[in-house]
Amino acid sequence: MTLPLVEALHGRPTSRRPVWVMRQAGRHLPEYRELRERVGFQEAVSTPEVAAELTLQPVRRYGMDGAVIFADIMTPLEAMGVPMTFDPGPRLRPHSLAEIAALGELDPERVAPVAGTVSRVRAEAPSGTAVIGFAGAPMTLLAYLCEGGGSRDFMTLRAELRRDPGAAGEALGVLARAMHTYLELQVEAGADVVQLFDTWAGLLDRDRYGALAVPAAADALAGLPVPRIYFAPGAGHTLDLQKAVGAEAVGADWRLPIDAAWDRAGTKAVQGNLDPAVLLADEGTFRDEVGAMLGRTAGRPGHVVNLGHGIDRATPPRNVAAFVEAVRNGPA
Ligand code: CP3
Repeated sequence: MTLPLVEALHGRPTSRRPVWVMRQAGRHLPEYRELRERVGFQEAVSTPEVAAELTLQPVRRYGMDGAVIFADIMTPLEAMGVPMTFDPGPRLRPHSLAEIAALGELDPERVAPVAGTVSRVRAEAPSGTAVIGFAGAPMTLLAYLCEGGGSRDFMTLRAELRRDPGAAGEALGVLARAMHTYLELQVEAGADVVQLFDTWAGLLDRDRYGALAVPAAADALAGLPVPRIYFAPGAGHTLDLQKAVGAEAVGADWRLPIDAAWDRAGTKAVQGNLDPAVLLADEGTFRDEVGAMLGRTAGRPGHVVNLGHGIDRATPPRNVAAFVEAVRNGPA
């Protein structure tokens, strides 16, 4: 059975436009909050039965075309020996570039629970639903490691990239190899698609983005035998450089019209790009915006419908259901 999500990522026409939502598993869902009252975040990620259940909750509720594995971009770093907590975002000790380069390789055994989740989800997901494996892009992981957690502007990262570009390149190389191993493992376990999240790369200027973030992301994705999505929100100023990552699709945030973002990137496929805030509005309002977005890519195969970034936790589930329905009833 062909998967609409996979077909669209290859730029082939599909009978319906595939749709899924970033952060579709999580706090906007009452069934997620109910389960998480009993199980901590890291315990959920490392228990395949629980992680598979959390992955499938939104798929069952909304009939999404993609099931994105429940884990975190930091999960493989924990497996590489970096202690951390989640509060709700990752918190860890700030690491030097030399310490990051010394992390070495990812032992696939230590991320075996994620592979277990992928194979469970592949077995249990509806046959037309693609299983989406993912990893954090090297630059975004470097940002968390240098800073020791989240930050508004990741000033430490931006300073480190200038202080010692050679050491930054080495640290990125180590992270790229580890994420390649991690993604390969997910593909072997049954992932139909992979996505690389480069959440913080948009903070960089074009020179550093092109010289450091792009080659590291390309190395993480090189040679994987499934369609690949590269997503760097807030990085519209680098869309023309993103094609060199080599992914079949780029993710577009909401800041540019989807067709403009697609043209700038020049890739086979594009994913996005409704503003997540739209789903906080009333249904009449967002139906118009969904229609306008679909109109911009009508008749052009290769559009995977999604939000321009993760869903907001205050989103009413009925609005997500109405969004999926509006996409299904819209032009193919
Ligand atoms: O449904 C899904 O998207 C699958 C699972 C998923 C999670 N994190 C679960 C999670 C995915 C794909 C991620 C990726 C991730 N994690 C990114 C890249 C995506 C993006 O939004 O740009 C980033 C930057 C992180 C780091 C991270 N982890 C943050 C900033 C936070 C806290 C803020 C938040 O969004 O809740 C986390 C914790 C986290 N990861 C939660 C979930 C469901 C919240 C944990 C909880 O419910 O308490």
